Amino acid sequence: MKKTLIAPSVLAADFANLQRDIEMINASEADWFHIDVMDGHFVPNISYGMPVIQAIKKHATKPLDVHLMIEKPERYIETFAEVGADIITVHYESTVHLHRTLRQIKATGCKAGVVLNLTTPVSVLEDILPECYMVLIMSINPGFGGQKFEDITYQKVKKLRKMIDEQGLDTLIEIDGGVTSKNAKQLVDAGANVLVAGSYVFGAENPTQTIADLKKLLEN
Ligand code: DX5
Ligand code: ZN
Repeated sequence: MKKTLIAPSVLAADFANLQRDIEMINASEADWFHIDVMDGHFVPNISYGMPVIQAIKKHATKPLDVHLMIEKPERYIETFAEVGADIITVHYESTVHLHRTLRQIKATGCKAGVVLNLTTPVSVLEDILPECYMVLIMSINPGFGGQKFEDITYQKVKKLRKMIDEQGLDTLIEIDGGVTSKNAKQLVDAGANVLVAGSYVFGAENPTQTIADLKKLLEN
């Protein structure tokens, strides 16, 4: 069985102690850094942008998984690649020419993925799946950390897993929002490969141990 990847969301880190938190993730069993970029238009919140990502990149020893919650992400793909993104995901709902945007991401050397909002059905991806290294299914309405996981996610993951298998692809499925030890196993059983966890990891008394426990839970 393939190992499940864990991507702690830096949005929940302590920005005044960012280097400390990055080094915690470096030393932990986590696989990627999940980087949330919000523009105050596509989502009702503003997070951080290029200078912060560049600063994270200086210390991070694991890939940066950059989740763009911005309108018309095609305007900034090259810049995000330059500041250190390894994977760039764009929302299906944010870009008119998705195919072109995915090709643009790949041209920078980054891996390309598509994100679906909670109410966007997985069926819209049928023809574009071969272009996707990964599909990120939101399990909350994007914009804020610390929200409650929505159960509708399980059926979406199952449907998407079926589509990916039917097309003979190895596209990864990532889940983002409200992930905890309570839903992680069920998500992996439904077909998820990558779990983002923000408040669950950084809100824990011992984040390193919490990541290790999550990994262990998903091994069985
Ligand atoms: C929300 C972001 C998430 C967020 C997850 O729009 O995309 O990555 O940081 O945080 P938790 O795990 O706390 O729901
Ligand atoms: Zn995210």
